[in-house]
Amino acid sequence: MPKPIRLNAFEMNCVAHQSPGLWRHPRDRSHEYNRLPYWIELAQTLERGLFDGLFLADVLGIYDVFGGGPEAALRHATQVPVNDPLLLVPAMAQATRHLGFGVTVNLSFEPPYPFARRMSTLDHLTEGRIGWNVVTGYLDSAAKGAGRDRQTAHDDRYAVAEDYMELVYKLWEGSWADDAVVADKAAGLFTRPERVRRVAHEGHFRLDALHLSEPSPQRTPVIYQAGTSPAGRTFAARHAECVFMSGPSKTVVAPRVAAIRELAAGLGRDGAGILMFTLATAIVAPTDAAAADLLAEYRRYADPEGALTLMSGWTGIDFSRLDPDEVVEHVQNEAGRSALENITRADPGRRWTVREVGEHVSIGGIGPIFVGSPTTVADQMESWVEETGIDGFNLAFAVRPETFAAVSDLLVPELQRRGRYKSAYAEGSLRRKLFGRDRVDDSHAAARHRFV
Ligand SMILES: Cc1cc2nc3c(=O)[nH]c(=O)nc-3n(C[C@H](O)[C@H](O)[C@H](O)COP(=O)(O)O)c2cc1C
Repeated sequence: MPKPIRLNAFEMNCVAHQSPGLWRHPRDRSHEYNRLPYWIELAQTLERGLFDGLFLADVLGIYDVFGGGPEAALRHATQVPVNDPLLLVPAMAQATRHLGFGVTVNLSFEPPYPFARRMSTLDHLTEGRIGWNVVTGYLDSAAKGAGRDRQTAHDDRYAVAEDYMELVYKLWEGSWADDAVVADKAAGLFTRPERVRRVAHEGHFRLDALHLSEPSPQRTPVIYQAGTSPAGRTFAARHAECVFMSGPSKTVVAPRVAAIRELAAGLGRDGAGILMFTLATAIVAPTDAAAADLLAEYRRYADPEGALTLMSGWTGIDFSRLDPDEVVEHVQNEAGRSALENITRADPGRRWTVREVGEHVSIGGIGPIFVGSPTTVADQMESWVEETGIDGFNLAFAVRPETFAAVSDLLVPELQRRGRYKSAYAEGSLRRKLFGRDRVDDSHAAARHRFV
């Protein structure tokens, strides 16, 4: 039995997400992002294709690095306007039974106490289908929105994140015992007080409080992480159950997969058991020729300046100041680091000009584009899985809804025919579907805070 391939859909509560300019395509409906029917239809399309999850990205700031202001981002709808991702989840959960929801929340701007309750609430309401993509941000504009002058330095953000994680684990795992709630109507006893305990935490964050939610199906949401700098890898090795990465080639992605698995093993975790997803866009049509035509059609609407606006935000480099034919050089700053590594140092055999970056990133971001018939795309996916060690893909879209509909209706049957894809969902929580258990593994950093 070949290794199964897993799929997540990569989305965001905004227009166009990773394919700036494609909102102008006549069939694109991503401008309907602010209406629930749009999201419910997406969730049902993904569930039809047995996707493991919908991964909702988020930023709390504006991409104002390109050109030194917000104009380009606003004009091109470059991840702005952007609404809250969490509020979409209950409606989509109601319209589906199995689809998981990996929601991004930036811990730099969310006090841990109310955040922990919000995630517990979502875990209850989805009956255990919630995951958290732990991010620390890369935009100074987000820090300014929170009343700070600039964002915290790169590695310090991960240090703060360590303390944040310990605190929320204590709330999720350690405040209420599984048998605390008895809801005994005859005795008039809802919760046994001796089975609920205060969490006292002294670190970067301070807290002395009970968690407010009773234990939810998974307690700690499934933890996703998406940074692959040295500090990011260490954080992933300690906390991630699923890792999202992005890179344009197998050469870039494979060593990151191996490094995180090895680091995790060094911490006593099962490195091979961490699920690795890499960003990709699949343009699938009944034949190779039809798929190539579709991609050519999409390219007519792609917006390289919008793409460079995204890249400027991810990397902290103002690409508007560079010559289009200039080769992008590496610099170290306080924004995210993997996005720049992807095009400078991660593949010594490939140098990128600014123009090439703008063109590549304008459809689906920095990941590969798989284009062709279901057979061709399945071949490409299989070779990525074999040669990089990943477990699956985080699929971006070019045009909504058709990119995801083609995956569910054309590609998934081909993957199933090859024995590479499940034919039905497993029952139970998101963690049970992915790992066969509802609660974090005993070797996970959250487990030592359990109330036993
Ligand atoms: C596939 C993928 C998805 C990401 N989604 C988000 C997101 O939604 N919000 C966010 O603030 N950062 C997001 N990031 C950025 C990471 O959280 C991180 O800040 C970035 O990769 C830089 O981390 P590093 O410097 O450790 O590599 C994403 C990264 C990747 C690779």
